[in-house]
Amino acid sequence: MRRPLVAGNWKMHGTRASVAELIEELRQLEFPAEVEVAVFPGSLHIAQVVAGLAAGAVKVGAQNCAVQAEQGALTGELATSQLVDAGCELVLVGHSERRLILGESDEAVIRKFAAAQVAGLVPVLCLGETREQREAGATLDVVGAQLAAVIDALGVESLAKAVVAYEPVWAIGTGLTATPEQAQQVHAAIRAQVAQADAEVASGLRILYGGSVKAASAAELFGMQDIDGGLVGGASLNADEFGAICRAAGN
Ligand code: 13P
Repeated sequence: MRRPLVAGNWKMHGTRASVAELIEELRQLEFPAEVEVAVFPGSLHIAQVVAGLAAGAVKVGAQNCAVQAEQGALTGELATSQLVDAGCELVLVGHSERRLILGESDEAVIRKFAAAQVAGLVPVLCLGETREQREAGATLDVVGAQLAAVIDALGVESLAKAVVAYEPVWAIGTGLTATPEQAQQVHAAIRAQVAQADAEVASGLRILYGGSVKAASAAELFGMQDIDGGLVGGASLNADEFGAICRAAGN
């Protein structure tokens, strides 16, 4: 049995005041014990969130990391060992906003994924196709290539202590959710690709769906066989909505 994971990606949102409010609201929520819950605040607020949620059920992750685990001369970056020191347990790797807007390459994604694991962080590897790619019928090729880049470089074993998130770019922040069937098709293809290399790793791998997940759409998505939870953007900034999504993962 794969334990569902619901992860809230706060992206570039929040001030100290609004983050304090959100922490307080999250502390009031009761999360289903069978669901793992994590939030990914902006780097500036990681320490605040770790302190605010101390000893609670919610894990804290970072949205990005340096390509190395060790501290060093790399202005503006955060070594994965520093993220661990700050209290992070997970890190997003290869989010489409970083791949597409900031030009992050597969090569950088691979190095960040490896650096996360060296430091003991769980990387959440984000994959997804653009609208043009979907319309061209290239979804499974694009997602497959993004996944293969990591498997080829780091071995399929690297996925034993990682999470994959399928986030179709056209569904991110657009209010346009993939249908449960559309998402399931890609999730099944991801798991089959991993299974070709290692069936055991594949059956234990948690594959999250991301892209306009809301409380209203969560239960149906999470009911699909290969969808093991969600990576939630906008809706994770609202504690009630986020709590409802977490409960949907527990049903
Ligand atoms: P939205 O839920 O706002 O569409 O964002 C999804 C996402 O990119 C999470 O990483």
